[in-house]
Amino acid sequence: MTKASFRPAQLRTVLTAFLVLHLLACVDAEIESAAAVPATADNQRIHPERWPKQESPLPVDPAIEAKISELLARMTLEEKVGQIIQADIDSVTPEQVKRYHLGSILNGGNSAPNKDNRGSPIEWLKLADAFWRASTDTSDGGVGIPAMWGTDAVHGQSKIVGATLFPHNIGLGMANDPDLIRRIGAITAKEIRVTGQDWTFAPTVAVVRNDRWGRTYESYSEHPDIVRAYASAVVEGVQGKYGTPEFLDGDHLVATIKHFVGDGGTDNGIDTGNTLASEEELRDLHAAGYYSAIAAGAQTAMASYSSWQGQKMHGNKDLLTDVLVGRMGFAGFTVGDWNGHAHVPGCSETSCATAFNAGLDMFMAPSSWQGLYQSTLEQVRSGVISEARLNEAVSRVLRVKYRMGLMTAPMPSQRKNAGQWQLLGAPEHRAVAREAARKSLVLLKNNHGVLPFKASSRVLITGDGANNIGKQCGGWTLNWQGTGNLNEHFPNGESFYQGLQKALAAGGGTIELSESGDFQQRPDVAVVIFGEDPYAEFQGDRPHLDFPDDTALLQLARFKQAGIATVAVFLSGRPMWVNPELNQSDAFVAAWLPGTEGGALADVMVRKSDGSVNHDFSGKLSFSWPNDATGTPLNVGDKDYQPLFAYGYGLSYQQSATVAALSESSGLSPGTVVNTDRFFTAGKATAPWQLQLTDQGDVTVVENPVQVSRHSAVTVQAADRKQQEDTLIIDIKNKSFVSLVHEKGERINWVRQSNGDMALEIDYQVIASAGKPVRLGMACGVDCSSYVDVSREFAASAGKGWRTAEVLLRCFNDPARISGEFRLDRVSAPFVLASDGGLTIQIARIRLKANEGKASCTVN
Ligand code: BGC
Ligand code: BGC
Repeated sequence: MTKASFRPAQLRTVLTAFLVLHLLACVDAEIESAAAVPATADNQRIHPERWPKQESPLPVDPAIEAKISELLARMTLEEKVGQIIQADIDSVTPEQVKRYHLGSILNGGNSAPNKDNRGSPIEWLKLADAFWRASTDTSDGGVGIPAMWGTDAVHGQSKIVGATLFPHNIGLGMANDPDLIRRIGAITAKEIRVTGQDWTFAPTVAVVRNDRWGRTYESYSEHPDIVRAYASAVVEGVQGKYGTPEFLDGDHLVATIKHFVGDGGTDNGIDTGNTLASEEELRDLHAAGYYSAIAAGAQTAMASYSSWQGQKMHGNKDLLTDVLVGRMGFAGFTVGDWNGHAHVPGCSETSCATAFNAGLDMFMAPSSWQGLYQSTLEQVRSGVISEARLNEAVSRVLRVKYRMGLMTAPMPSQRKNAGQWQLLGAPEHRAVAREAARKSLVLLKNNHGVLPFKASSRVLITGDGANNIGKQCGGWTLNWQGTGNLNEHFPNGESFYQGLQKALAAGGGTIELSESGDFQQRPDVAVVIFGEDPYAEFQGDRPHLDFPDDTALLQLARFKQAGIATVAVFLSGRPMWVNPELNQSDAFVAAWLPGTEGGALADVMVRKSDGSVNHDFSGKLSFSWPNDATGTPLNVGDKDYQPLFAYGYGLSYQQSATVAALSESSGLSPGTVVNTDRFFTAGKATAPWQLQLTDQGDVTVVENPVQVSRHSAVTVQAADRKQQEDTLIIDIKNKSFVSLVHEKGERINWVRQSNGDMALEIDYQVIASAGKPVRLGMACGVDCSSYVDVSREFAASAGKGWRTAEVLLRCFNDPARISGEFRLDRVSAPFVLASDGGLTIQIARIRLKANEGKASCTVN
C-alpha cells in the first residue's frame, strides 16, 4: 500500500451481503432456540435444595449475640429503621444522620467531601469524623450506633488523590495469581483506613459472558475458576484472614461481594439487564465467587441491579434469602445497589417493602433515603414489614459492626493507619501495583522479535494513551466515569511515557513523545498507545466490539510504510476487534486498564543495559479474544469456539509465535452502530441523529451548510470556531424549534441514566436574544415533551461568549416541566430548542455526560 493510496476505509473492510445474511440467520436462530425451550414455571424458578449446602465459617458468637439482643431491646422503631438505610454523602448531612439514626453512608462514584472529587484526602478523614460524631451522639436519648461508611475502592482506594491504583480486575485476571490479589486487597484496605472509611464495595465477582457489557473490566474472567480463586483471596486480603487476629482489625475492613447474582450474564450484555441463564448456569458459573468468598468470611453482599428470568434480583427471596443465606451460609448483611430497589415491580425509590421482605438488609438510597425511611417506618407500623424481619436485618448489620470492632472504635481519625498520609501511594504499595500491572500485560503478537528492545534504542512514542495516566486508570477513578483526569491528578503515578523515559535514559537510549506521530529523528521503533476512553457502568455498554477510532491505525500504517518497527499498546476494558491495528503492528500488547504504574510497560519492553531480558511477559488471556467485531458471546468451552486468541493465550520471550496477516472483515453490518450519547459533534448532527427544523408543523432535515425552514422561521448556517465549519449558527426569527431526532424514529430509554446522575451537555454561545421565551428540552413526539425554561439565562448571556450548559437528565422527570405523556423511557428527540423568535445561538457540541458536580436544572 502506498502512502498516497492509504485510506482507513480500505483497512476496515465493509461487510459483504453474504455476511449480512449470515448475521441475520444467526439472530433468527437465537430467537428460535429461545422459543424452542418453553418457559415453564419450573425452569424460571429457583430450587434452593439443588444448590450446594455450605456451612458459615463464622460460628455464632454468644458474646456478640448477647450485646445485639440487649441493644435491640433499647432501640426505638425509628432507630431500627434508620439502621437499615444508607444515604449518599452528597445528599445527607451529619446532622441528618444523627436525627434519623442512619446506619450507613456511602460516597457514590461522583460524591466526595465538599463535592470535590479531586480534593485533599484530609477532607475525607474530617468528614468521616463528622459522621461518626453525629451517629454516636446520644444527646437525644438514643443508643448512638456508629454509621458505617462504604466506598467503591474497586482498584485501590480509587476515590483518593495520591492513592495507589491497581489494574482493574480484568487485567488482574490475566495475571492468574491469587497471592498477588490477596496482597492488593490488603494494601487497598490499609489505604482506605488512612482516609477513615469502613467498608469497600468490592470485589466484583461477576463472571462476564458478554464483553459488550460496560462493566466487563470489573470482572476477573469469563471462567468461573479464576473468579472463584480470586474472590476468596481478595476477601482475605481486604478483611484479613478469618480465624486469625488480623480479621477485621485496624489494617483491614469489610468487603462486599457483588452483584448477587448473574450480573455478568445479562442478555446482550446490557447493564442492569436480564440474565437468561439456567438455574444450573447461575449456580455453577455466575455464583462461583460467592461460595469461596463466603467461606473466607465475606461480610456483605450487594444485590444485583439485574434480573434473573425477568425477576429483579432486589426482590428475589429465593436467591437473596434461601440460597445466599440458607444454602451458601452467608453470615453478613446484604446491601442494595444504588436505588436498585426502585426497579422491583410495585416499588419506587422511596418505598419498597418487597425488597426488604425478600432479604435485602440495607437499602442503598443515595438521595431517596428520607422518603424511604418514612415509608419503611409506616410499613413496619402497619405490619407490611414484620418487626421480626426488621429485627433480623438490624441484627445482621449490628453483627458486622460488632465483628469489625466499630461499636467500640474511637472516631475514625484516632484509629490505626488513619491520617498516615505517607501510606497513600507508598513505594512498597506502588511496587505491588507495578508487579500487578506487569503481570496483567498480554503479548498478543511479537513478529520478528521486535520486543524487547535495547535500552540504547531510539524510541518514538505516540497515541493518546502514551502520556495519560487518567486513560491508564479507566472508570471508577477519582470520579465515577474516570473522565477528565490529568497526570497532575496522580501525584504518585507514572505514565507509560514517563516509565519508558526512565528505562531508556538508564541505558543510553532516547525517547521522543510526539502527539502527531511526526518525528525529529528517525526512530528504531515506534510505540503507539491507544484504546478506549474511560467509562463506567452502562456508559460502557456497546452494540459491538469494533474499536471505532482509526487515529492509531493510521499512525501505525504510516510507520510501517516508512519501514519503522511498530509496537501497539492497547488500553481497553475488554477484548475488542482490532485486526486492522494488529496487521499494522509488529508487536501488540493488550494492556487493559493498568492503573497508575506505567513503568510496568518498560519493565517488559526494554532490555537491561547488559542486553538481557528484564522481565518477561507472563499475562495469559482470562477472556477470549474475538475473531470479528459482532460481539456475539465468545467463551471458552463454547460448542463452536472460534476465537482469534483463545482463553489462556499469551506470548512470552520464551514462547514465541508469528501471527500471520488477519482478515479485516469485521462481520458488522453497516447498521449495527448505534450511538446514544453523541448527538452533535463539530457543528454537525452525529449519525444516526439528524437535525430537524420545525416551522408551523413542517419539518426540514438539515443536510446542507445553509438551510432554511419551510416558512423561513429558522435558518441554520455552518460557521468556524477552531476549525472550518465546526459549529452551527441557529437563527430563530419566529416561533419554531430545532431538534435532534433519530433517523429511523427510534427512541432512547434514559431512566437508568437519569438515576445515574447524567446530564445533557451543550457547548454554545448566545449571539443575540430579544428576550422572548426560550425552552430547552427533549421530546417523545407531538405534544410529548419536557423543557426547562432558559429565557432569562439566554437573554443574560447574549454576546458574552462560549459556555457549556449541563442540564441534568432527571430535571426532565419533573411533572412541572412535562407536557403530554413524556417519560424518560421513550425519548425520540434528546435535544429540542424552541423559541418564540429573536434568538441567534451558535452550537458546537451536544452530548450526554456524567455530572461532575456542575450540572443543574438550568443553563449557566
Ligand atoms: C454500582 C455499584 C456501586 C454503587 C455505589 C452502583 O451503581 O452498580 O457497583 O457499588 O453504585 O457507587
Ligand atoms: C452510580 C454511582 C454514581 C452515581 C452518579 C450511579 O448510577 O452507581 O456510583 O455515583 O450514579 O451520581
